[in-house]
Amino acid sequence: MIKFVNSVQDLHACLLRWQQNGHRIGLVPTMGGLHEGHLSLLSLAKAHCDKVVTTIYVNPTQFSATEDFGSYPRNLSDDLQTLSNKNACDLVYCPQQMYLDNHATQIVSSGVALRLEADSRPHFFNGVATIILKLFNQIKPDVAIFGEKDYQQLMVIKQLVRDLDLQVEIIAGHIQREKDGLAMSTRNSYLSDNERKTASNIYRILQKTARNLQENQSVSEAINAGILELNSVGINNIDYFSINDPNTLEPIAKFNSDARMLIALYVGTTRLIDNIAVPFLSESRIHS
Ligand code: PAF
Repeated sequence: MIKFVNSVQDLHACLLRWQQNGHRIGLVPTMGGLHEGHLSLLSLAKAHCDKVVTTIYVNPTQFSATEDFGSYPRNLSDDLQTLSNKNACDLVYCPQQMYLDNHATQIVSSGVALRLEADSRPHFFNGVATIILKLFNQIKPDVAIFGEKDYQQLMVIKQLVRDLDLQVEIIAGHIQREKDGLAMSTRNSYLSDNERKTASNIYRILQKTARNLQENQSVSEAINAGILELNSVGINNIDYFSINDPNTLEPIAKFNSDARMLIALYVGTTRLIDNIAVPFLSESRIHS
């Protein structure tokens, strides 16, 4: 039976027993709108921990005034049903109040939080880092799981843990994809049928661009070809399409070691992000 709490007092009462029993506690933070991607993170948590806590909280501080905070899918009863059907966790925490009225402190992330998402969403990572630190402090998990779908977010959290000496192990979960390759995301539900078809090209074009790089195209040639191909399927509004160092997230000018390719774009009015690893194959010839 999954426990449900919405106050920090009830959360602590539940956690205390587990902590006294020496249980290893895993956390999967979410904003709800649960799908197979979230469930895969929860099973990863189960594999590493004795007790799994998930949080469902649409965090206002990571949305700008023009973003979809108001319309973000919220269906708590469906989410709870999904979790209990799959027996996916031991405790669900849906905080009723996360920020006091006079809350006045924010984490300011730099380093891997610069560029990419930050160029279009400058508020985003400070909001994410602040809520995650609050959740870590409230729950004190031994392990926390984050999906590679939000690759930059994952790197920001790892940086937060390293820089602030947080006693939590961060584990990354692989991206879960639909049969046609589209990365699973709560926001996919915004897409019309036609937009959904268009969106299925993203992963194919990422893979093709990665192959082009591995087969000797320069970074700029590969990206330009990828953009043309996105345009040809009707995707014209691209926030970024970039090849970056997988650890520092600095953009790379030359493909001569493993890289991460990251993209953010609009299909209709829906903003989608995706990314893939681009392994450097030793037989690749190197372009400048
Ligand atoms: O990835 C998300 O769903 C959110 O950014 C997170 C990590 C739950 C913080 O609100």
